[in-house]
Amino acid sequence: MARRLKLGVLISGRGSNLQALIDAAAAGDWPAEIALVVSNKADAAGLARAEAAGIPTCVLSHRGHPDRASFDATMTAALVAAGVDLVCLAGFMRLLSPEFVEAWHDRLINIHPSLLPSFRGLHAHEQALEAGVRFTGCTVHFVRAEMDDGPIIVQAAVPVLQDDTAETLAARVLQAEHRCYPQAVRWIAEGRVRISGSRALVADAPANEDFLVSPG
Ligand code: GRF
Repeated sequence: MARRLKLGVLISGRGSNLQALIDAAAAGDWPAEIALVVSNKADAAGLARAEAAGIPTCVLSHRGHPDRASFDATMTAALVAAGVDLVCLAGFMRLLSPEFVEAWHDRLINIHPSLLPSFRGLHAHEQALEAGVRFTGCTVHFVRAEMDDGPIIVQAAVPVLQDDTAETLAARVLQAEHRCYPQAVRWIAEGRVRISGSRALVADAPANEDFLVSPG
């Protein structure tokens, strides 16, 4: 197989999306590998997932860094040293400096648990329930300076059920996240994603012309 795209995955916690990427990489025909996992929390459960898979990890604390830009510069140095081509944010709970976003322009992606541009920021599921939408979902997108903004690579729509709580909805959306993140990475690694202005276009993406109705 051709050279696999090298990923740097940034986490702060549970790491279930990291696990979905680890599982995809283990499957064999996935054109990417995880070169480094960076956490800003020493107790992030995701670190154990990386270690179990034999992936190098790096814990960076904001202590010892005078400001956000210097923390991010340390992070960039670690990612570059590991030969990272693409940075994947996977529940990384720190704002990124403009310098970091610029340094990794078009090589930095994020997963967010809503259909962006709806429900940016924290508590996306509570926001969706409060708004009374019939569908929410998840989005994988390139990162831009604004939070939860940037060209969309893939989205999954997930129905909101009448008796959903934020927890039950989050669990259903998370299953969709675990499918979408490896898919988006695959398309990028295969060279099929082209950015055109505010849009990301995926070559030869299977079209889904179905519509969903909720309540069904
Ligand atoms: C996910 O819901 C992701 O969309 C959001 O943060 C959560 C991280 O979960 N950005 P996990 O750490 O991947 O399990």
